[in-house]
Amino acid sequence: MKKILVTGGLGYIGSHTVVALQEAGYEVFIIDNLSNTSIDVLQGITEITNTPPKFERLDLRIKNDVVAFFQKHTNMDGIIHFAASKAVGESVENPLLYYENNINSLVYLLQECKAHNISNFIFSSSCTVYGEPDTLPIDEGAPIKQATSPYGNTKQISEEILKDVCHVSNLNAIALRYFNPIGAHASALIGELPVGVPQNLVPFITQTAAGVRKELSVFGDDYDTPDGSCIRDYIHVVDLARAHVKAVERLIKAENSAKFRVFNIGTGKGNSVLEVIAAFEEVTGEKLNYKIVDRRPGDVVAVFADTKKANEELGWKAAHDLKEGLASSWKWEKKVRGI
Ligand code: WQD
Repeated sequence: MKKILVTGGLGYIGSHTVVALQEAGYEVFIIDNLSNTSIDVLQGITEITNTPPKFERLDLRIKNDVVAFFQKHTNMDGIIHFAASKAVGESVENPLLYYENNINSLVYLLQECKAHNISNFIFSSSCTVYGEPDTLPIDEGAPIKQATSPYGNTKQISEEILKDVCHVSNLNAIALRYFNPIGAHASALIGELPVGVPQNLVPFITQTAAGVRKELSVFGDDYDTPDGSCIRDYIHVVDLARAHVKAVERLIKAENSAKFRVFNIGTGKGNSVLEVIAAFEEVTGEKLNYKIVDRRPGDVVAVFADTKKANEELGWKAAHDLKEGLASSWKWEKKVRGI
């Protein structure tokens, strides 16, 4: 059984990917520092797959601990690296936290790949690397623009590090550029657990509908879009998880036609904030309390994926649409709140 190390495997996307990996027959080892999740997620994964993944609490910023881990746990067939700080606004206020965590962790991991001859590496990247696209849908050949936040910059720098290391070593890497992950596993045993006030749209919507938040603020309706609100590509987290399994298969079968590849992982469809709200109300029957406020600095007007490359080269395509994602998010929120 091939063994995959998943860093940040108790996080939102990580936990869904662990489930998909186990269901595809992989043995999974999770490391997580629990800074942005709960150990209860391990129970949720186990209830879904009846296979408790191996777990070790580890902070990848502590080089000695990373070295000791790999001395103890050898023979990994691949690594999927989720562990990172990911709040755009927080990264602007505390850039050093982001450069230390997101860059140092990657460098320490890659040093261990070299030391232990681990040659398959999948990196959690983001459509944030594109900045404000010139054309839509956006494909992987689009120019990488000046990052609009330290968070986005760490993703750009990380991709450059991977490209350079692959060029001079036996490492083969795939960076998956996520668009906007939403939704939860159908069982509602795992899902998104935002710490504190949610930064992202969909968890704020579901918490508002659950009465946890008073009302949703829509950050601007005066953009150059059909209804004035920003457009994004909302991808179901279960589809996103499946994309990682496809990427692992590609690397392990050594089908990676180049040492370093990037793929857009989105639905290929854009929806505005107001369309998401309308879809949520339609799917759930809940009336959402929201108001239009000023624009949020740093927001791009519109971004959604050209997914042709992932469709053709990974053999992956999103199977769920926006409404299914929203319905699963709402089911998860009700489960968390005991509604
Ligand atoms: C989506 C739209 C907001 C909250 C970021 C990162 C990306 C990824 C996902 C990590 C925007 C609007 C939001 C609210 C609102 N992060 N909005 N009211 O900014 O597209 O992407 O999160 O992997 O890398 O860049 O996602 O959900 O914050 O915003 O009106 O309370 O919803 O203005 O138009 P974003 P988001």
